[in-house]
Amino acid sequence: MFSLILITSGPTIEPIDPVRFLSNRSSGLTGYHLAMEARARGLGPVTFVTGPTTWLPTGVEIVRVETALEMRAAVNERRARADVVIMAAAVSDYRSVKYYPEKMKKSGERITLELAKNPDILLEAGRHKPRGQVLVGFAAETEDIFVNAQKKVRDKNLDLLVLNEISAANPAFGREANQVFLVRPDGMRRLERMSKTLIAAHIWDEIIALAGRRAEGAP
Ligand code: C5P
Repeated sequence: MFSLILITSGPTIEPIDPVRFLSNRSSGLTGYHLAMEARARGLGPVTFVTGPTTWLPTGVEIVRVETALEMRAAVNERRARADVVIMAAAVSDYRSVKYYPEKMKKSGERITLELAKNPDILLEAGRHKPRGQVLVGFAAETEDIFVNAQKKVRDKNLDLLVLNEISAANPAFGREANQVFLVRPDGMRRLERMSKTLIAAHIWDEIIALAGRRAEGAP
C-alpha cells in the first residue's frame, strides 16, 4: 500500500563525556507497536530509525542512532521517499555544547553545563513535506494541552498529532497503557485509556483514512 514508511522511535542520548549523557524516559514502546502494526497489516516496507531502546521491531529495516544530530541525518536522507513519516522519538531538545573527551573530574559544589538547542527534525520534515505525504508527530504536554497541540499541528505542518497529557493520572512514559488525543488540523478525537498496541492500531486507521482522502484529491 505504501512505498516507504519511516518511523522514528526511542530517546536520543547526548554525550557529555565518555561515561555520561543527557537523555529522557522514553521506552520506545509506541514506535515499536506502530512498526509491528504496519508489518502485521502488510502496509509496506518500514524503516525504523531508533535511539537506544530494547524495543526493536522485527521484519523492518533498523537504523540505530544515538544523538539527535545522527537521527536528523538518518531521517533527512530518507524522508523525501516516504509516503508516511511518523516521528515517535523523544528527541533531546538540548545537547552539551562541549564533549569532554576525558571523564569529567568532581570539582566545586556547583558546576555549569552549557547546552545547545538540537534541530527540530519534525519541523524540518514539515517544512519540506512532499505532496501526498502523511506526516505524524507526537506531543507530551502538561499545560494548555489543546492550545499547544493545535499550534504544533499548524507550526509543524502535520497531518496528525498524537497528544499525550502527562499528569499523575496518565504517566505515559514506560507504561504499557496510555490515554491520547488524535489531533488533526480540522479537529480532534479522544481515545479511551488503552494499551499502546491498540493505540498503534487507531493511529494506523487514521493514517490510512487520511492517505485515502489524499488519493481522492484532498490536499
Ligand atoms: O515540540 P515537541 O518537542 O513537543 O514535539 C514533539 C514531536 O517533535 C515528536 O513527534 C518528536 O519526535 C519531534 N521532535 C523532533 N526533533 C526534536 C524535537 C521533537 O523530531 N528536536
